[in-house]
Amino acid sequence: MSKPSKKFDSDPNTTGHVWDGIEEFDNPMPRWWLWVFYVTIIWGIGYVIAYPAWPGINGATKGLLGWSSRANVAAEIQSAEDKLAPINAKLEAAELTQITTDPELGPYAVSAGGAVFKTWCAQCHGSGAAGAIGYPNLLDNDWLWGGDIENIYATVKHGIRNEEDDDARYSEMPAFGDDYLEDDQIDAVVNYVMSLSGEAKDASVVAAGAEVFADECSSCHMEDGTGDRAQGAPNLADAIWLYGGDYDSIKETVTYSRYGVMPSWGNRLTEAQVRAVSAYVHQLGGGE
Ligand code: HEC
Ligand code: HEC
Repeated sequence: MSKPSKKFDSDPNTTGHVWDGIEEFDNPMPRWWLWVFYVTIIWGIGYVIAYPAWPGINGATKGLLGWSSRANVAAEIQSAEDKLAPINAKLEAAELTQITTDPELGPYAVSAGGAVFKTWCAQCHGSGAAGAIGYPNLLDNDWLWGGDIENIYATVKHGIRNEEDDDARYSEMPAFGDDYLEDDQIDAVVNYVMSLSGEAKDASVVAAGAEVFADECSSCHMEDGTGDRAQGAPNLADAIWLYGGDYDSIKETVTYSRYGVMPSWGNRLTEAQVRAVSAYVHQLGGGE
């Protein structure tokens, strides 16, 4: 096909492309577009020099400005901590029993402790602290190890039956199923334990269970079954159950025993955090 000719003198040159007689003009890029394009290139080069940009094996290039989002966060955390340092120092120095009644420390400990609780305790005790099977409810006044602030603090600081803290609370209920008690003795004592919470049970079975209980269980759970906080032995007469109060659950507890473990927090949290979360738990409703 012959080279297409200009139709008007004012027409720009054509690219030479023709489709069905339609020609393509060779218009230049608009000036404003070109300049914006150059500016973005210059901006890009400047950015790469000034800010972290190229990824490497151990991190990105640092950039001349030394900017780092991680350092910014660290600085913000540091400044928040600096602001709280005086009140945390006061919290660490205060008598445990004075914390909740102190007009300044009390509200601070409860709100800081609530944050600690949501981060570190809620996975086991529930975000509302109502607990779950094997994880005690911290809202009620039924305490395994004691519900005054000093006992709560000791439990939180050292934990329970863990191997990481020599001062962890410790006790162990024996497993009575290991050829220790006969099946009918276990059956009887389970019935007896259920009767302690007011469940109607066969009187002769309960009487037999009471004997087993006096021999085997009362050293820890006390004669009347109300438990012993010094050993973390639960009250069995209050219809509140850590591991379940139906026949099968209690039978399982007696046959195999239980071994609830809580980590030690003294080596994970600051002293102020341990105190704050203890105060938080104390004011939840069951504090003594
Ligand atoms: C890994 C699970 C776990 C986490 C996390 C945990 N606990 Fe516990 N906690 C337990 C268990 C299990 C027990 C009961 C142990 C037993 O059977 O004696 C317990 C018991 C307690 C008790 C004693 C309750 C009583 O009746 O005497 C307190 C108080 C307590 N936890 C507070 C806390 C606080 C505060 C935190 C967070 C700093 C926390 N726990 C984190 C598992 C956990
Ligand atoms: C050496 C002390 C000890 C002896 C003896 C003992 N217990 Fe326990 N018992 C405990 C401790 C400690 C716990 C709590 C275990 C835990 O929290 O993991 C417990 C827990 C229980 C529970 C669970 C309570 C709940 O709230 O779910 C039942 C039921 C129970 N014992 C019944 C008995 C019976 C019945 C006997 C006797 C046949 C007995 N125990 C003997 C220490 C003892």
